[in-house]
Amino acid sequence: MRVIIVGAGIAGLSLAIALGQAGHQITILDAAPQLAELGAGVQMTPQAIRYLFKWGLKDDLLSESIIPESLYVRDGQSGDVLGTVRIKDMEVQYGAPYIVVHRAVLHAILHRHAVRAGAQVLLDSGVVEYEFANGAVQLRNGNWLTADLVVAADGINSLARSKLLGSKDPGSQPTGWAAFRMTAEASKLRADPAVASLIDLQSRSSNWWIAPHLSCMTYLIKDATLLNIVLSHRDDVCTKDFTPGEYNKTVRNLFRDFEPRLQRILDLSRPQIANYPVYAVPPLPSWAHGSGRFVLIGDAAHAMAFYMSMGVSIAVEDAAALVAVLDLACPPDNDPSFARERSEEVASKLKHALQIFETARKPRVEAVQEASLHGGDSSHTSDEIERSVLYEALGHSHEAEVWPPESDSSRGNLIRKSTRTGQRLGPGGIIDKGTRDWCYGYDAVGAIEKAYKSSSIAGQA
Ligand SMILES: Cc1cc2nc3c(=O)[nH]c(=O)nc-3n(C[C@H](O)[C@H](O)[C@H](O)COP(=O)(O)OP(=O)(O)OC[C@H]3O[C@@H](n4cnc5c(N)ncnc54)[C@H](O)[C@@H]3O)c2cc1C
Ligand SMILES: *[C@@H]1O[C@H](CO)[C@@H](O)[C@H](O)[C@H]1NC(C)=O
Repeated sequence: MRVIIVGAGIAGLSLAIALGQAGHQITILDAAPQLAELGAGVQMTPQAIRYLFKWGLKDDLLSESIIPESLYVRDGQSGDVLGTVRIKDMEVQYGAPYIVVHRAVLHAILHRHAVRAGAQVLLDSGVVEYEFANGAVQLRNGNWLTADLVVAADGINSLARSKLLGSKDPGSQPTGWAAFRMTAEASKLRADPAVASLIDLQSRSSNWWIAPHLSCMTYLIKDATLLNIVLSHRDDVCTKDFTPGEYNKTVRNLFRDFEPRLQRILDLSRPQIANYPVYAVPPLPSWAHGSGRFVLIGDAAHAMAFYMSMGVSIAVEDAAALVAVLDLACPPDNDPSFARERSEEVASKLKHALQIFETARKPRVEAVQEASLHGGDSSHTSDEIERSVLYEALGHSHEAEVWPPESDSSRGNLIRKSTRTGQRLGPGGIIDKGTRDWCYGYDAVGAIEKAYKSSSIAGQA
């Protein structure tokens, strides 16, 4: 089958790898004149890493990323460790490691493997118009390209989404959170006696200082030469036209009550600071066009807050799931004339495939969106009672048992159930084992197989 993918981000490239390896003919279009990648560190979770390994990226990924031993969650003011999440243990628990990596490094690895899988990557090829019913896209230069299936992975401000949904497109919405992002040279920090012990090159552990409305996450990237620093705050600071000096002043003022070692890390960090307001795409009425020739994936369909570290991972899940459903519902055919000659038949198979994709993916993704936002909200709560529950939960974060064991009404708002799936949304997101288990232990391909089976049973009945 011929597939056009719009957007060579992490979602689009992951899909290109998986589809190319499955024998489909792939063209990826990106508006950017070159794939010069922005951003700093990204974290990736086991249930997605599993698929990257399966597609042959294991050696490249492991040699260029870091598996932290632990995440130490600390009180912002005192610096005391409140809880420990044993990140290294996740490999055994969930079947693949949790990794941290520079976004540009990950992007380069994916690009290399997409090309190796036979994908044609066309840059400077922004899409300006869609004909959803015909699998057609128009480029900025006026040319139209067609395929059996068009997949838009064009990011949070997706043009495809707004064309598909029109007035029903909710657009991206503020979550109430924002993050200052910066980096520091690990060698500089290691040379400073006050903070050297926080930069342990053996364990390569991460640290997360938390306080009401504010937190600071740090982890090592780039072969442990660089510390990635993410400073969460309420999205109520307008940083437009800020000079580096104004950025510095704002960050220092916001975090002035944090412990001296954190201040020292900020002293020693690079002067470049960027502010990223955290936006999300709320649940959409649908991701696919009724013709079966078009679907949205990645941030375009469901951008989310980053507090479960799952924005990038869920895009990889999308890719694995879409390939799985195409394999089941319309396996690749070696005869290129096949698709066009029996176009109607292919379209009806695709339609079925995309229905299954949506049925299996939407509740999953929407529950993860809820967990991500709840993770952010609950770890930054300013309510005193909620904070004491959070601190108590942190004391159990390393344990193999879920704490508190059952949804307990005396724990108030910190323990909830997903409105989509009923799954647990625990205090502090990633620190809660119950939340980690269903987020990081998920089998995206298994879910597709199950949905496919029940749809064929329903079809026979
Ligand atoms: C600049 C940037 C920095 C980021 N930094 C981080 C980070 O540090 N940590 C983190 O966890 N997450 C980060 N993210 C988010 C994370 O990368 C995404 O959640 C995840 O990669 C899934 O994104 P995606 O592939 O769906 O979309 P994106 O990564 O946004 O990719 C979309 C691609 O589509 C292309 N495109 C858009 N419109 C068109 C069009 N009309 N025609 C053709 N091509 C088009 C864009 O050029 C882009 O390459 C960042 C995202 C961006 C864009
Ligand atoms: C940032 O502010 C701190 C204190 O407020 C100051 O010591 C430091 O020199 C400033 N850094 C830069 C790069 O301006």
